[in-house]
Amino acid sequence: MSRDADGLAPPSRCRPTDELPPLLEFRDGSPVENPADWRERREELRRLLRHYVYGYAPDPPEIETTSERTPKILDGAATLVETEIAFAELPDDAPTITLAVFLPSDAVAADRSVPVLLGLNWRGNHAAVDDPAVRITDTAREHGGRDEGAAERGAAADYWCVEHVIARGYGFATFQLADVDPDSGDPADGVRPYYDGELPGPPGTEWGVLAAWAWGLQRCVDALGPMDAVRTEEIAVLGHSRCGKAALLAGATDERIGLVAPHQSGTGGMALDRDNDQEGVGDITGMFPQWFADTYAAFDGQVDRLPVDSHSLAALVAPRPLFDTAGARDYWTNPGRALDAVRAAEPVWELLGAEGIGDDLPLYGDDAITDETVGSLCHYRRETGHSLNEGYLDAVLDFADVHFDG
Ligand code: GCU
Repeated sequence: MSRDADGLAPPSRCRPTDELPPLLEFRDGSPVENPADWRERREELRRLLRHYVYGYAPDPPEIETTSERTPKILDGAATLVETEIAFAELPDDAPTITLAVFLPSDAVAADRSVPVLLGLNWRGNHAAVDDPAVRITDTAREHGGRDEGAAERGAAADYWCVEHVIARGYGFATFQLADVDPDSGDPADGVRPYYDGELPGPPGTEWGVLAAWAWGLQRCVDALGPMDAVRTEEIAVLGHSRCGKAALLAGATDERIGLVAPHQSGTGGMALDRDNDQEGVGDITGMFPQWFADTYAAFDGQVDRLPVDSHSLAALVAPRPLFDTAGARDYWTNPGRALDAVRAAEPVWELLGAEGIGDDLPLYGDDAITDETVGSLCHYRRETGHSLNEGYLDAVLDFADVHFDG
């Protein structure tokens, strides 16, 4: 078994990428030779991914927003904008999203717009920072993550490191995943029942929870885009684990998103389904059937019949920057097969005239992330298990510094 640079044995084998479904070939076998062909192939892949893996989401609805602004939170470092996002086409009892946006105070004072990291949180917006200004929502009281009732304020502060993100000149925006779907496994929960019978795909291909969360992230992009304080082209989407899967899906299927950073997203995210000796299609659809379209579970034991794999999803991001991050000891998410997906997707960036992978991957720990070392596509690891921390966020921001002007 080969070893990573740090001496840890990666749990998966590497397999030649030519055994994956080709990206630069249409389903009918004709070649994808130029960017115009890729536009069509991209649509084909998008449809296949919806059909066989994530399900069809509804067309984007009109949103209605109301915002409240609180200056000088986090010891004066940030302005908080809490935005309620409602959906005009849905009845009054339908879910709404409470988006918390933290903006650097100096940028607000100078009327300067900033790039923003957008992430889906699990335990409530108020758990991301320890500041009484952030509202504890009804959703957070009902679904506190692992706690009974609402999580403690700041319970996830070391995870999101919002003050650090702000200090680096970025805004941070987040909403609680339970606003869209609490992941209870009950199909009557969340926003999906409001679209029953109205989705574009055939029966069995209705959106799963990952697609619903991705849709929620995209509705946040609808709300962030028009904000003067936000650099519209520089919204980066980030998420960890199941939220990393949703972040990748959101970024892959929405070209308004300027940078995509799935973190330890594993199966259903960056890790390939083929030859994945960690979480297989049967494992994930057995434990979390609600995350996917019903069609996906049928590929348990016959994954080679899937016309797509995670490299197909990753390729939809091209030519925009994609930064995949992994824990060297986070075996279940299979960093080896995530890296293989990154490598397999690179030809699409090249076809579109973007630099794909810069230096040899993976990058590790304190490796420099500069325009000398990285292209538009990167896989980066730290010496951790399944967690998010300041080291990862710094790496994401270093990568964003390379690609964003703000
Ligand atoms: C489980 C699941 C993973 C998922 C993770 C999480 O471990 O098997 O696919 O990423 O939960 O989201 O916490």
